[in-house]
Amino acid sequence: MREIIIEPNEKQRAFFESNAKYTAYGGARGGGKSWAMRMKLILLALNYKGIQILLLRRTLAELRENHLLPMTKILKGVAVYVSGEKEFRFKNGSRIKLGYCESVSDVLQFQGQAYEVIGLEEATHFTEFQFFALTESNRISGNMPSPFKPRMYFTCNPGGVGHAWVKRLFIDRDFRGSEKPEDYLFIKSLVFDNKFVMENDKGYVETLKNLPDARRRAMLYGDWDAFEGAFFPEFDREKHILPQGSRIPDGSIYFRALDYGLDMTACLWCACDSEGRIYIYRELTESNLTLSEAARKICELTPKDEPIRYTVASPDLWNRRQESGKSGYDIMTQNGLTRLIKADNSRIAGWRIVREYLKHDIVSGPTLAISECCPDLIRSLPLLRFDEHIREDASDTPHEITHTPEALRYALMSRRPALPPKKRSSFSSSVYTFDTPSDQIEGYEELIEY
Ligand SMILES: Nc1ncnc2c1ncn2[C@@H]1O[C@H](COP(=O)(O)OP(=O)(O)OP(=O)(O)O)[C@@H](O)[C@H]1O
Ligand SMILES: [Mg+2]
Repeated sequence: MREIIIEPNEKQRAFFESNAKYTAYGGARGGGKSWAMRMKLILLALNYKGIQILLLRRTLAELRENHLLPMTKILKGVAVYVSGEKEFRFKNGSRIKLGYCESVSDVLQFQGQAYEVIGLEEATHFTEFQFFALTESNRISGNMPSPFKPRMYFTCNPGGVGHAWVKRLFIDRDFRGSEKPEDYLFIKSLVFDNKFVMENDKGYVETLKNLPDARRRAMLYGDWDAFEGAFFPEFDREKHILPQGSRIPDGSIYFRALDYGLDMTACLWCACDSEGRIYIYRELTESNLTLSEAARKICELTPKDEPIRYTVASPDLWNRRQESGKSGYDIMTQNGLTRLIKADNSRIAGWRIVREYLKHDIVSGPTLAISECCPDLIRSLPLLRFDEHIREDASDTPHEITHTPEALRYALMSRRPALPPKKRSSFSSSVYTFDTPSDQIEGYEELIEY
């Protein structure tokens, strides 16, 4: 008989005691999250006969360093490690399997298997797809003699490809469909909670304090809005969000911007006032709309008296399909969405324009205002991250947060001719070219007259 004596801090105790369906322990660095995850899973394995547990990290190297080595030490004489299966087997029939998901599809290897408990270490390193795929394996395995409510435990720091879904569920608590608020518990972890580090490694707190500003806010204080890698740190909820019901100035020009895809149609309704300020006042985000459905829906959502001048859309809409000989442009036009123009899809120049709009003051404020009625755009803009390889481009992952920002980019690029250089001294002169071919749109003369 070997006794394992552990001394959890207050937050770790809360993590141990939670039996919510999904418990996340996270925030800043060094709070004792991995320790708590390891101990929690061991306690479950010892206390529940036959329980099947899966502990995952993104890579094998991380798994070995962070868990395999310390667990092997703690469980010596308590459980047997079977290296071929990468699992600890306990005398009472319980099992802790260690796994990793290096590529997105690696997660599929766990499909068809059943684990009463799944621990996801550094959950923000996993994509939303991987998380959802894993929830399918989180069920009763049939090996336990007593009843048990399946659940998942997460540890996480801000940042990473999974930042958006972890933040949505545990920080913003913005639930969708059948997600129930009572299923999600977040316990904030800070290095200051960890007596072990505070007493034995005082330099670590100093190291965190010396990080660059945004990263320090994220890693020392667990600020989910401030993680390094935000593509638009200029975005500021205080400055850029318009309360519902705000009025768009008389004489504004109305238009729409569309990023069509079967996986997601994103459309923004926009207005440009006489000083060049842009207002985004309505959005549509919906998946699985065919071209004709998307066109009809956009028309339905536009009140008859709203004088939309044009809809700027992704250029691939003009590609002809081999089978029908028709393009997306043809189908949308036939379904009532006329006056479509091709967006300028230069990504780097486009993002630069978005950045200028976000930070530029004409007289007394920024030149871009987004209505509260556009929750997807408001959620997505601060989550966009830098591309790992092209530093001036935004990352394409997580894909679900790219749709409304892309539509915004098309919208702002379409207004370039309306930005007189004399008013916008900080814009480079190369920005004021207008290269939309005139044969793409009826009423083109009217379009370029302002
Ligand atoms: N209750 C505890 N008793 C003893 N040691 C602890 C306890 N909690 C944490 N530690 C130790 O503190 C150190 C940091 O903890 P841990 O690695 O779990 O932090 P973390 O929050 O996972 O950090 P990171 O954000 O870097 O992943 C480790 O050496 C760990 O073993
Ligand atoms: Mg850790």
